[in-house]
Amino acid sequence: MNDLEKTQQKIETLRAEIERHNRLYYLDAASEITDREYDQLLQSLEKLETQFPEFSTPTSPTQRVGGAPLDRFDSARHAVPMMSLSNTYSKEEVTEFKRRIHKLIPAESFNYILEPKIDGVAISLRYENGDLVLAVTRGDGTTGDDVTSNVRTIPSIPLRLADLMPPAVLEVRGEIYMDIAGFASLNEQRQEAGLEPFANPRNACAGSLKLLDPREVAQRPLDAIFYATGQLDGVSFETHEQMLLSLKNYGLRSTPTYWLSEKIEEIIDRLDELENMRHEFPFEMDGGVIKVNERRLYEKLGYTAKSPRWAVAYKYEPEQAETTLHAISIQVGRTGVLTPVAELEPVQLAGTTVKRATLHNEDEIRRKGIKIGDRVILEKAGEIIPAIVKVLTEKRTGVELEFTMPTTCPACGSETEKRAGEVALRCINLQCPAQVKSWIAHYASRGAMDISGLGEALVIQLVDSGLVKNPAELYALKKSRCSG
Ligand code: IVH
Repeated sequence: MNDLEKTQQKIETLRAEIERHNRLYYLDAASEITDREYDQLLQSLEKLETQFPEFSTPTSPTQRVGGAPLDRFDSARHAVPMMSLSNTYSKEEVTEFKRRIHKLIPAESFNYILEPKIDGVAISLRYENGDLVLAVTRGDGTTGDDVTSNVRTIPSIPLRLADLMPPAVLEVRGEIYMDIAGFASLNEQRQEAGLEPFANPRNACAGSLKLLDPREVAQRPLDAIFYATGQLDGVSFETHEQMLLSLKNYGLRSTPTYWLSEKIEEIIDRLDELENMRHEFPFEMDGGVIKVNERRLYEKLGYTAKSPRWAVAYKYEPEQAETTLHAISIQVGRTGVLTPVAELEPVQLAGTTVKRATLHNEDEIRRKGIKIGDRVILEKAGEIIPAIVKVLTEKRTGVELEFTMPTTCPACGSETEKRAGEVALRCINLQCPAQVKSWIAHYASRGAMDISGLGEALVIQLVDSGLVKNPAELYALKKSRCSG
């Protein structure tokens, strides 16, 4: 082997090693190396690829975010149409689904398989000889947007399948979603930046996929789960379960849990069990999907104009609670943004007691017609952030009060301003104690400097006593002054 061949081999080995660590991290949640070691591997690969550009390839792990922003998305035709599911809202309708199937294939014996219905954005990925070549949104089912460069930035999606003998064509279909915790911090950031927050993780996900600059998409906490196939060439699966397991072997994430049974009654019972698991998933689940497990029966059962006859969705109700809005308080954030917060009569919702809910900004309060004293319906957007989704105007007694944002900052009395292009109101005083407190608390938080022991209570004391006016002053604190 000459030197050049050795280099090429080294590059290939590094890539395979990085891809393996990716899978360990994203699929198995069992990393063998630290983030730092991972970065070092990636850097060595980057260095070699810069030195030997003849060996660079678009499927290298260094090439997730590449190229300039797009002007617009091209449209792409689906090799096999992307269908939808028919919905059911009662268990009786699920039994009806079973009866229809038995009428069509009375002599067959088969299993049902139940899996979560992920509330995200449908996507179809196309791998040719193991390489990711195309990612297309559902669109009208026949043609969608080519969002390949955005989808490539999603770290859990392999650019190359983990198989030495990959099929000529493997199209997988699934859902791109925004991680619930990631959604919460993205909205917080947007609010701090004076931008309109997203209503829920699905909107945030759809909005992210529509961004024209993949570098921006790479900053969004997106992930994906796959549960169906499109065109296949050089591979076939006997059952849905076998397909799910194979996807995992290819390095593609599939549904985190499923149930198999030949009895629909048992599957119906599992629907409640699945619903109770709602908060254990990192995505929003809006139902369960019941499918026939044996793929050979798909063609026999056939399709309606929009959906297959071998599958059905059972939709869960969104979790809601009714309560009273006692007051609207104002929070001043790190960048001075004034955020109205609903102070509520405590109520149980999705397993926690909710006392406060963000109202985002004044426009939102107007849009929803919220008044102080109203009876309101709460829902958890992103399962963790409670939001007021509706006002029960029929329950008004006439004592409810219109809310207006203060013209001055409630923390320091300074003037507020609305910057061009922003929805938020800001306090203009950089020394505003509320701003300083959130600034320091943010600086000390786990995502930033991670200063242990510097919690909210201590930050309040330090700022109120005048000892600290900015993060730099934390380092000038003397022991005697702290304790004295
Ligand atoms: S199967 C040919 N399985 O829900 C049928 N869809 O409301 C392919 N969805 O279009 C779909 N989780 O975007 C299937 N486990 C799951 C799903 C799922 C979410 C989405 C999908 C579908 C829509 C129908």
